[in-house]
Amino acid sequence: MTAALDILHREHRAIAAVLHCLSHIVEETRAGKLAPEFEFFDAVISYMRDFPDRMHHPKEDEFFFKVLRTKAPELVPTLDALHEEHVAGDRLLAELDQKLDDWRKASEDTDRASTFLDEADAYVDFQRKHAAREERTVMPESRKFLDDADWEPINAAFLDNDDPMFGSRTQETYAKLFGKIVALAPQPWGLAQRTHMPTKTDKEALDTDHASWSEEQRRNMLALRWI
Ligand SMILES: [Fe+2]
Ligand SMILES: [Fe+2]
Repeated sequence: MTAALDILHREHRAIAAVLHCLSHIVEETRAGKLAPEFEFFDAVISYMRDFPDRMHHPKEDEFFFKVLRTKAPELVPTLDALHEEHVAGDRLLAELDQKLDDWRKASEDTDRASTFLDEADAYVDFQRKHAAREERTVMPESRKFLDDADWEPINAAFLDNDDPMFGSRTQETYAKLFGKIVALAPQPWGLAQRTHMPTKTDKEALDTDHASWSEEQRRNMLALRWI
């Protein structure tokens, strides 16, 4: 395996892990099992913007796909489609960020919550299909069309430790962002304590006996800005 393909596989796994975590937390939030995790959703959006959109996809376009276009003309339609998906992914993420802001401004608005959660699902699906298409088409095909001389500049670029896009300091920044997602994701998907949506009992307590609230009930109410 070439170094560049190895790095792309590894990055796809890291992105898949974040998407996996996001999809489970979206599902549990929709089912009312978790209170809105705005900080977690923010961290995922920052990660997807800074890592795949600013680093992983440009790296594919500017180095890997560029060489592959010249050596495998039959792959050009697929490479064009993948590039268009990189552009579309940027736009979908910006829209998702906007929907999160809309929901945060009115956190009890169930329509805004549903809009964000549905778009988050669609985003996960889109990015999963995109990475799967690369893994099943251009990545294996590249082995047939590129020789050692073709791989040399691609590998050199991917392994350049001082490069602002690929270098070790940049990798450290992404690792920190990944760690932040793990720290903010509620258990069992991450390490954070779960904050449940208020139950009927919580709501009754709000109306009747505030003094009897448990610490968890208080936290739930505070999280939803009901108190
Ligand atoms: Fe890509
Ligand atoms: Fe990719």
